[in-house]
Amino acid sequence: MKSPDISDDIRSRLALALDVDDLVEAGRLGRRMSPWFSVAKIGLELFSASGPEAVGAFVDQGYEVFLDLKLHDIPTTVGKAARVLGSLGVSYVTVHASGGVDMLSAAVHGLNEGAAAAGLPAPMVLAVTVLTSESDAPSAVLEQRLTSALEADCGGVICAADDLFEVARVAPELLAVVPGIRPAGVASHDQGRPATPATAIQQGAGILVIGRAVTSADDPESAADAIATEVGEAI
Ligand code: C5P
Repeated sequence: MKSPDISDDIRSRLALALDVDDLVEAGRLGRRMSPWFSVAKIGLELFSASGPEAVGAFVDQGYEVFLDLKLHDIPTTVGKAARVLGSLGVSYVTVHASGGVDMLSAAVHGLNEGAAAAGLPAPMVLAVTVLTSESDAPSAVLEQRLTSALEADCGGVICAADDLFEVARVAPELLAVVPGIRPAGVASHDQGRPATPATAIQQGAGILVIGRAVTSADDPESAADAIATEVGEAI
C-alpha cells in the first residue's frame, strides 16, 4: 500500500506498542508504521532485550519514545532510575500510581534532573492507574490514584477507556493515555475492558496505545489506516 498522508492531528494521537523482544524486528515495525504513528511505546520486553539502545533507535526514526517500564520501588530508587531515563531522550515514562505521591514525585524530579543535565526537554510521567488484573478494585482506588498523580505533578495517566469519565471528573488536566483499543470486530486478546478508537477518543482519550490490533493484523497497513480514519472522524 502506498504511504498515506495522515495528518499530524491524527498521528499525534496514536502510539504503537512495540511488544517484541528483538530490536531489528521492532525497528522494521517502526519504519513500516511511521506514516500512522508518532509515538513508539517500548515496554519491558524490548527494554530488557536492548535497553537504552532501543530508545535511541526510535528517536532516530523520528518517534516520540514512550518508555513503559511501570516503575514501582522506594522513592529514592525510582528517583535515581528516573534520572538516568530522563537523560535518554524519551518523551513519556510510566510509573505506578499505587506507589504513592512521594514515589511519583521522585520520578517527576528524577526525570526533570536527568533531562536538564543532558540538555533535553523533560519527559512526562504517566501514572498507571488500575491494571486489568485489578479491575475489580473499588472506584475509590481510581480516584485516590488520580489524586496522587495530580499532587505529584504527573502530566498524564494510563487508564482503560471505561475510566475516562472519572479522569475527566477528578483530573481533567491530565493527558489520558488509553490501551486496550480494538476496532469493532477485532479480537480482544487478553484486554479485559477494550474500547473502539472512536469511543475512546469521544470519551476523552488523548493518546491511544495500539498493539495487536495492528501488529497481529493480516494487513497491518490497512488496519492502521482504518484506525487512523476512525480517529480522524472522532476528533
Ligand atoms: O492488546 P494490545 O496489543 O493493543 O496491547 C497494547 C498495550 O496494552 C501493551 O503493550 C500493554 O502495555 C497494554 N496492555 C494492557 N492491559 C492488558 C494487556 C495489554 O494495558 N490486559
